Amino acid sequence: MSDLTDRLQQLQTDALAELAGATDAPAVESLRASLLGRSGKLTELLRGLAEIPAEDRPSVGRLANEVRDSLESSIRDRLEGLLAAGATARLAGETLDMSGPGRPRRVGHLHPTMTVERDLREIFHAFGFEVFEGPEIETEAMNFEALNIPPDHPSRDLWDTLYVAEEGSPRQAAADGTILRTHTSPVQIRAMQALTPPIRVITPGRCFRYEAVDASHGFEFFQVEGLVVDRDTSLADLKGMLEEFARALYGEGTRTRFRPGYYPFTEPSVAFDLSCLVCGGSGCAACGRSGWMTILGAGMVHPTVLRAGGVDPDEFQGYAFGMGLDRITLLRHGVPDLRLLMSADLRFLEQFPAGR
Ligand code: PHE
Repeated sequence: MSDLTDRLQQLQTDALAELAGATDAPAVESLRASLLGRSGKLTELLRGLAEIPAEDRPSVGRLANEVRDSLESSIRDRLEGLLAAGATARLAGETLDMSGPGRPRRVGHLHPTMTVERDLREIFHAFGFEVFEGPEIETEAMNFEALNIPPDHPSRDLWDTLYVAEEGSPRQAAADGTILRTHTSPVQIRAMQALTPPIRVITPGRCFRYEAVDASHGFEFFQVEGLVVDRDTSLADLKGMLEEFARALYGEGTRTRFRPGYYPFTEPSVAFDLSCLVCGGSGCAACGRSGWMTILGAGMVHPTVLRAGGVDPDEFQGYAFGMGLDRITLLRHGVPDLRLLMSADLRFLEQFPAGR
């Protein structure tokens, strides 16, 4: 018995010495295998347990367990120590200069036209309008007929239309009359069909016209349409609301005027003018020496249009207005050419870092 006890103690002493000499993790791992593995030294020794007298077995067995536990925990400690030392050594070899300048990130910003759109959303939100959006791809029926513009009506000339081609025949307009909307007015119809009066919506969005592109015309532009339908709305309400809107957008001193206008979907129709934003009203090249600038068209919603939207014109009236965002943007920043807005030219866009 004492023989086995001695050998166990000797094994422990030798193993600890060897462990202290193991300088990396693989060396510790192979030491673990040679001691505690299936044919390791400790395992071998324990086979001798069967040959010692039965009354000695418990105490020798206990010793063997202690030796195994203590070796296992020494090995674990040694491994952890080596790993930590390795990480520290690796970190010591690295340099991180916390005093260096940060790398600037390029942060984008809103396009100036979208900033105008957001400003309008905010102003009309304060007036109690909600946003109602419609599709850019429309039908002739919605874009024209529902808005009191029949196929042979001369006013269709006002809207040079981009037709979507029939599938397979690129030169033939689609038989179902699919077009790119020429204004946001068809969303009036969609809003009336979807909502029940009283209705108070603005409908911002992109529109398309078949235009020769120049400094003041694009084939693609943005509008914001407004529609109010209620039991007794009047031209006076429209006028008051637009005057407040003009002051909110351009400041208290802005002067405004109503002129007669013509749109098939409003009756009566008006043009809404502002005192020239460039000269303040004295007359300059920007306002054609008149002192005024037209910023939107408006009017009382035509009964035919109310009916197309499923609204009874004997019960409800409404007013509508529509304005171009691109022009507002050009005037806001004194940009001389509409094409710059669509150019995606960073030299231009970066001049509006806050979108303003
Ligand atoms: N849809 C008209 C346009 O594109 C603007 C407008 C909207 C006029 C609503 C009156 C009422 O020019």
